[in-house]
Amino acid sequence: SKQAIIAPSVLAADFANLQRDIEMINKSEADWFHIDVMDGQFVPNISYGMPVIEAIKKHATKPLDVHLMIEKPERYIETFAKIGADIITVHYEATVHLHRTLTQIKNAGCKAGVVLNLSTPVSVLEDILPECYMVLIMSINPGFGGQKFEEITYNKVRKLKKMITDQGLDTLIEIDGGVTNKNAKQLVEAGADVLVAGSYIFNAENPIETTADLKKITTL
Ligand code: DX5
Ligand code: ZN
Repeated sequence: SKQAIIAPSVLAADFANLQRDIEMINKSEADWFHIDVMDGQFVPNISYGMPVIEAIKKHATKPLDVHLMIEKPERYIETFAKIGADIITVHYEATVHLHRTLTQIKNAGCKAGVVLNLSTPVSVLEDILPECYMVLIMSINPGFGGQKFEEITYNKVRKLKKMITDQGLDTLIEIDGGVTNKNAKQLVEAGADVLVAGSYIFNAENPIETTADLKKITTL
């Protein structure tokens, strides 16, 4: 049987009660912490940076999945590795020499992944796929939490899953944006392995139960 990896996005946490929220995720059935870094250039918003991630790392008992929504992420790979990133994903659209950047992430001791915006076809990854621990398919335009899931995602997941299988790889497929109990199961059926959920988990009346539910409905 297959069970999805659940990665709550800290972007939706209460930053004035960050330790409380980190400990809540530690206690839950969630698997990773999803960490959104935005630079106000690549995306029209600024989130948080190194000092906050270091503080999260001090309390987190689960891997940090760091999603870099920044221009030229190659400038900061070693820094993010040093402050505790376990997985680093960079946008295909933000780095010119993707192969070099992925190598840099691995040399820094982290697992390396690529993120695709909604309008970027999965086919651009055909030759680089063997270098990817994970591919993150955005299901919204990045920059903000709480947006509506875009249905075109399913088809992209199915296409990418086929590429991965055809090449005999075990690259993980992650989905980020608007994930709820309404689309989670269908995403996993299409081939997704990792689901990010921000507002759906943190705005829930009971985030621990909501996480457990997500875990349950995504067990195939
Ligand atoms: C958006 C971020 C997402 C965001 C998801 O640019 O990459 O990780 O936090 O939030 P929800 O789950 O609320 O769409
Ligand atoms: Zn993200």
